Amino acid sequence: MPVLTPTEARSCLPVVGSDTLVPLVDGTTIAYANLDCAASAPALVAVAERVTTTLPLYASVHRGAGYLSQVSTALYEASRQTIGAFVGARTDDVTVITRNTTDSLNLLAGCVPAGPDGEPGRVLVLDVEHHANLLPWQRSAGGATVLHGEDSVAATLAALRTELARAPYALLALTGASNVTGEYLPVADVVALAHEAGARVALDGAQLVPHRRFSLAETGVDYISYSGHKTYAPFGSGALVGRRDWLDAGTPYLAGGGAVRQVDVDSVVWTTAPARHEAGSPNVIGAVALAAACDALAALPAGTLEAHEAFLRERLVSGLEAIPGVQVVRAWADAVDPVGVVTFSVVDHDPGLVAAYLSAEYGIGVRDGRFCAHPLLSRLGYAAGAIRASVGVGTTLEEVERLLGALSTFVTDGPGATYEVVDACWTVSPDPRPLPEGSGLSGLIATAAAGFIAESAGCGPLLDQQ
Ligand code: ALA
Repeated sequence: MPVLTPTEARSCLPVVGSDTLVPLVDGTTIAYANLDCAASAPALVAVAERVTTTLPLYASVHRGAGYLSQVSTALYEASRQTIGAFVGARTDDVTVITRNTTDSLNLLAGCVPAGPDGEPGRVLVLDVEHHANLLPWQRSAGGATVLHGEDSVAATLAALRTELARAPYALLALTGASNVTGEYLPVADVVALAHEAGARVALDGAQLVPHRRFSLAETGVDYISYSGHKTYAPFGSGALVGRRDWLDAGTPYLAGGGAVRQVDVDSVVWTTAPARHEAGSPNVIGAVALAAACDALAALPAGTLEAHEAFLRERLVSGLEAIPGVQVVRAWADAVDPVGVVTFSVVDHDPGLVAAYLSAEYGIGVRDGRFCAHPLLSRLGYAAGAIRASVGVGTTLEEVERLLGALSTFVTDGPGATYEVVDACWTVSPDPRPLPEGSGLSGLIATAAAGFIAESAGCGPLLDQQ
């Protein structure tokens, strides 16, 4: 066992729920190991505290004359500044508060302008993308070209360069870090080749921003989007930050109050960004929470977060690769310094069964399926899905070791309990685990939720839906 520095071995920021006990199938309890931060990360303690102190100050924003309305408006707008500054917004960039990354990218898809020839602007994407950075472009006015990624960084950059030279593109929309493998292309190269061809660059920052320092001003990236619920602020907010001109002229994302200058019965004059895209009462508490997360992450000494995560990822990957029958998924084997998102398969075992076993027998939360990245999983040969473990600022070495030990036992001895597919999800059977006291739940999968989980989020064998 290597000698660890305190930063590497422990969580580097306190998160809410790090000591929450969950029941196991054998009747005991254990502290939950949340290795699913890539899907949704727990709230930072600092975020929960900021929300608690803000709630008594909360009132209507932008339209109210009351004292607390003015305070809440100031808090919302100050949060906007922080959320933009956290990703290095230039002085003339706009920060739109959205619901999450998916929302941000759908918004931007309505703002891609026509080219000099008057044709709607076309978008170039790779097949490595999360559906959030694929589907909005495909149904945008100019549509999208989806380029197959190559198996190395250099070959993928070369393919992008060739395609950008072949046809005019308004935008190259690219993952900041893959939600499947944690890998990314070097941003300086991407920006250089896109700008050289006259295209702007939008990064899907959902998996990048929570894990790495990022700056629009330093990289020259034109737009970045990110999600509060992946950035330790699960209060329903996200952001789109970038160049003003497209956002000022683009289709208002939501039609309604607050996005307009003047309305008559048969005409409307829309205002400029960010208000142009934020019709309706904004999510003040969500914005305050996300700003609090940005403050807490920015206050970490430089390199702390990266060192913590690099250590955990390295241990995770080397540990997984040492288990017979476990394969780690890579899109670009030569990618440098991936973030702490690791996908793997256990040969001859359904990913849903493995995930159910990890939960029921070890209190470990992972995600299984195709991670809203169907084209990538298919191209890499994992059309039947895989398992993903992802770490964050609250993750400890013990949690990673627990996962590795559990997988070794699974491969050697198989599961200790019996599992079956119920409502399209693998589950331990019988399942004696009680529900959390005070949760108000009457069942883990109530009838109404079962359909949604099976159809949308998915687990077990219903892999075509995930
Ligand atoms: N986009 C989230 C994920 O990758 C939900 O799991």
